[in-house]
Parts: sequence; C-alpha cells; structure tokens
Amino acid sequence: MKGTYHIITYGCQMNESDSERLSGQLEELQYQPTDNMQEADVIVINTCCVRESAENKVYGKIGELKHLKAKNPNLVIGITGCMAQKNKEALFERAPHIDFVFGPYNIHHLKELLQSGKAVASHTLKTQMRGADITDFTDLHAVRKSNVFAWVPIMQGCNKFCTYCIVPYVRGREWSRPIESVVKEVRELAAAGYKEITLLGQNVNAYGLDFKDGTDFADLLREVDKIDGIERVRYMTSHPRDMTREMIDTIAQSRHVVTQMHLPVQSGSDAVLKGMNRGYTVEHYCKLVDYIRKVMPDVVLTTDLIVGFPGETEEMHRETLELLKKIRYDLAYTFLYSPRSGTPAAKMAGQVSKDVMKRRLQELMSIQNEISLERNETMVGKTYEVIVEGPTKNNPKMWFGRTSGNKMIIFAPRATTMIGETTQVKVDHAQTWLLRGELAERN
Ligand code: SAH
Ligand code: SF4
Ligand code: F3S
Repeated sequence: MKGTYHIITYGCQMNESDSERLSGQLEELQYQPTDNMQEADVIVINTCCVRESAENKVYGKIGELKHLKAKNPNLVIGITGCMAQKNKEALFERAPHIDFVFGPYNIHHLKELLQSGKAVASHTLKTQMRGADITDFTDLHAVRKSNVFAWVPIMQGCNKFCTYCIVPYVRGREWSRPIESVVKEVRELAAAGYKEITLLGQNVNAYGLDFKDGTDFADLLREVDKIDGIERVRYMTSHPRDMTREMIDTIAQSRHVVTQMHLPVQSGSDAVLKGMNRGYTVEHYCKLVDYIRKVMPDVVLTTDLIVGFPGETEEMHRETLELLKKIRYDLAYTFLYSPRSGTPAAKMAGQVSKDVMKRRLQELMSIQNEISLERNETMVGKTYEVIVEGPTKNNPKMWFGRTSGNKMIIFAPRATTMIGETTQVKVDHAQTWLLRGELAERN
C-alpha cells in the first residue's frame, strides 16, 4: 500500500496517545504523514465526546470532509475514539461519506481494516469493549511527534462513574497495563533519547487495582523511577479519592517524578460532590492538599472545575469560590456543565441555565486568574530548570520550555539547536498563563 494519511485528534492526552498508535499502523502499511488534509488518501478523526462542544467540533470537521470525498472517491475516512464509541452506526447515517468507525478499544484494528479493503468496500464498524479477544494494543508501535517528550498509556477505562461523565461508558472498565510492559516501553524511550514521559490514565491512582495482587500506582512509579535516562516522569490524571499518602510519599521521594500535580476537585460544595458521586468531601480534599504541600513544598497544583452541575445553588457556587481562595491553585481548568445523554446527571432536577452558568464561570475565572498571576509572580527572580520545547507560535524568535512544575517560560534561545536541551532560565516577568525569562549563564 502507498499513499498519505492525516490524523486529526480531539480530546485528552489518551486520545493523543491513541493517535500515535494509529499512525504507527499506517506507517507499517507504508503510508506517509501529510499536514495537508486536502491531499491525504486516508483521513482519521480521533474524537472526544466529553462535552457537547467537543462533539459539535467533530461534526463540523466531518462535514468539511464531504467535498473531499466527492473529489476523490478513493479517499478513506475513519472516525475513531470516544464519540465513535458513543454514536456508532448513527455516524454513518448522519455522514454517509464515512468509511469506518471504531472505538478506543479497537485501535489495533486499523491495519487489518485497511489491508482487507473492507474499510473502502463498505461501512465498517468495530466498537467492542475490552474482552479476552482484544490484544494488548498498548504494545502497538507508536509514531511520536516529538523525540524528547512521550506519552505512555498505563491503563484504560474508568470505574468511577461520576454522574456527569460519559468516559466510563465509552472507555469501559479499568484495565491496567502490566508493569513489565510499561517498564519495557519506558526503557526503550530512554534508550532512544527521550527525556520526559507522561504516564496516562483517566485515574492513574487506580492503576493496578484490577490485578488484585496488591500492586498499585506507587509500585509502578518506583519501577519507572529506577530507569536511568528519563529526566522527568509526569502522570495524569489523579483522583482525590484514590490518591494515597504512600503514593504522595513515593512521588516526593522519587528522583524523577515531577513537582506538578493535577488533582481535579470539580466543586467546593459537599452537596455537589455528593451529587457528582466523586466519593470525597471538601474536608478530605483539603487534608490531602495539606499533606501534599507538607511533603512537596514546591508542588505546582492544578485542578478541574465544573460550574452549573444540576442543583448547584448560589451558596454552593460561593463555596467553590471560597475553596479556590483557600487552596490557591496554580491553574484551574473550568468547564460549563454539559449534559451527556445516558449519564445520571442529565436526568437530574435543577438543571442550571446557560446564563447563570456563564456568570458563575466568569466569577471563578476572575478569582483564579488573579491567584494564578500571584503564584507566578513568586517565581520572578528565581532560576528554574527547563527542558526546551522550541519556538513559540506567536513569535518564532522566542522559544519556550517547561519547568518540572509544567510552568511555561519564554526566553530568547542561545542557538537553534536547543530543542530538548535541559537548561536554566532566570524568570524576570510573570503573566497569568506564562513566564518570561533569560537563559542563565552556564557555569
Ligand atoms: N479522569 C479525569 C478527567 C476526565 S475529563 C478526572 O476524573 O478528572 C476532564 C474533565 O472534564 C473533568 O475533570 C471534568 O472537569 C470535565 N468534565 C467531564 N464531564 C463533563 C461534563 N459532562 N460537563 C462539563 N465538564 C465535564
Ligand atoms: Fe469521568 Fe469521573 Fe472517571 Fe474522571 S473519574 S473519567 S470525571 S467518571
Ligand atoms: Fe474526550 Fe474520550 Fe478523552 S471523551 S476527554 S477523548 S477519554
């Protein structure tokens, strides 16, 4: 086979990682990547359905492809990922120019579909969840965009069933990748010169629970931390309910696990947390944060928040504002609650109007932006180690890198060969979302 391919990825890092494994199969079939969608022979849209806005973006993109198919009937169009799993055959009805649809558990079928010609001859659909017949697709070859930073999936699925969330329905039950398989991939990455890895899972703190032999995320971190060559180990996402003190101690004592922790709280109201089925109280969460800050004083703490969950009153919303002031996150990702059909919350009483939600979101953001800036200002005058990522989008003369805490610092590069270099940058200016600085003198 020959030709070119183009993959468009929506959603979270798990999807980014899956796309790398789709690329791997396409390249095994001798397809070459192209940035120009217009000329591609295979187009894959790897989709997300976590919020309605994510789905709308995908539908918009699918619509754009219609004229390409009209121009080139041999074009193969595939829809993969979470929205594919959710909507299944309905996608073919809505967009007959699609050739195949498969869900997150079926990514290893891409090669076979294209080889068999089925993807072109008829509409094809694969949406089975993990079962005995499904191979360990995490061992598929990944074609990565960077040769410095790498995603490493450590688990699939989620058992938490937060009442607003579609993920457990489209990604299935938790399944952990064996430790040896993760360690093997990380060793290979180290040998290939990668410096930073991110261990991925919807709830990494539940890693290993399905082995039922006492293995947990702390064990995995200890094994990965032993591997020489990898300078930084990131992980996401953490769940406040499953994050144990032993895991926090392991992170604090490790050589390479970063000082950044993304710990979604979702709400500062116990009543809302209960309605969400999050499984913790505000008090439990705050105690966890106290402990994290005690053993990791430099921790960069970030979170996710949902505004307008059904039944959220002004008082409950104010509790979230208070929590933001109390915890003082470095950054908070804030979302308007989006009803997802099939989830319990979509049917709950007390749906909040869009206008109220938007006003609450503004209130959250204005408080958080001030705190984010203040936290960044404490970095001014200090020198940080960054791994250089490359030129910024707005001004290619200015480059950026990230600290262990994942703060982005912009600086003028010493040379254009600096990508992937670990270097020191002295911060001289703070903004809400980023920092500016200068390369520190080399000793
Ligand atoms: N597994 C992770 C991330 C899941 S999706 C976790 O538990 O934190 C990322 C974020 O999207 C969630 O943290 C939540 O804040 C948000 N989210 C999920 N479903 C949503 C919905 N229906 N409406 C609005 N935001 C949602
Ligand atoms: Fe969704 Fe909750 Fe699972 Fe995160 S932990 S993926 S929010 S169900
Ligand atoms: Fe979206 Fe699926 Fe990730 S719904 S957020 S791509 S797990």
